[in-house]
Amino acid sequence: MAVAVAAAVAGATAFSCSLSSPRRRRATTERASSAAEVEIRVCTNRTCTRQGGREVLAALEGLAPPRVDVASCGCLGRCGAGPNIGASSSVSASGGGAAVFGHVGTAARAAQLLEHLLGGESGFDAAAGLAALAAREKAEAALEKGDAAGAEALLTEAIEMNPCGGLHLAYRSRSRARLSLGNITGALFDTEEAIKIAPKFPQAHLSRGDALFAMEEYQAAEYAYADALDLDPSVRRTKSFRRTLHFDALPLFQARVEKLRQKAANAEISSPSS
Ligand SMILES: *[C@@H]1O[C@H](CO)[C@@H](O)[C@H](O)[C@H]1NC(C)=O
Ligand SMILES: *[C@@H]1O[C@H](CO)[C@@H](O)[C@H](O)[C@H]1NC(C)=O
Repeated sequence: MAVAVAAAVAGATAFSCSLSSPRRRRATTERASSAAEVEIRVCTNRTCTRQGGREVLAALEGLAPPRVDVASCGCLGRCGAGPNIGASSSVSASGGGAAVFGHVGTAARAAQLLEHLLGGESGFDAAAGLAALAAREKAEAALEKGDAAGAEALLTEAIEMNPCGGLHLAYRSRSRARLSLGNITGALFDTEEAIKIAPKFPQAHLSRGDALFAMEEYQAAEYAYADALDLDPSVRRTKSFRRTLHFDALPLFQARVEKLRQKAANAEISSPSS
């Protein structure tokens, strides 16, 4: 992405964010996966990280509608005036444009920036986005403490707020809560909603694998885990991967696959092809 310290991206777009019907949401997601209309890069080099760059990156990932591509990046210059964020828009109606924004140090500032980049007509509402983000974060903290029922209720609230962004994250987290509550079909449903919204979100595929695994659908679970690893090979090492059910499920799953392999090998030995 060519980030120029220049022209503001103001008035960028005509997104329609207020999608209530699942069909429209899916259509939008498909477009998004082919080409992001707005790219946002958050500097996570030393100085910006000290100033909260990673937290802002996480907030932006949680707030951004699916067709906004958010990622980290190296130094954008202006060290000390961060966290710095580069943004570029390829929306032809606005003529596109790129700019660097400094001092984006809180989730609230990040939400304001998104509102600015997406434009007034987008339907992106910073306050609503922040409320859903706060509910999800509270839920995830509850989940880490083992309060799955509390987490499920909060995540249902967050989902019902129907925010422009972060819905896939809320569904994915609720699937984890439901799985620990023993609601396997509910968990599977949530992972599939998350995948519809964000097909390239590896953790949703992991959680889908967990739900399928719990259903003893081992073959399907294997494919789901493989999808996650294809999307992000590092997923196996991530904290969330180890922290969640995967930690327990994966060795079991691998043992199961190993057994199946042995069975297949034995079958080959006992019935040699002529
Ligand atoms: C990050 O900052 C260090 C100095 O702190 C610098 O050497 C390095 O090139 C920077 N990396 C990027 C990708 O900007
Ligand atoms: C499980 O999740 C479904 C949603 O898919 C929900 O309708 C149902 O009430 C949940 N069941 C339990 C026992 O919580």
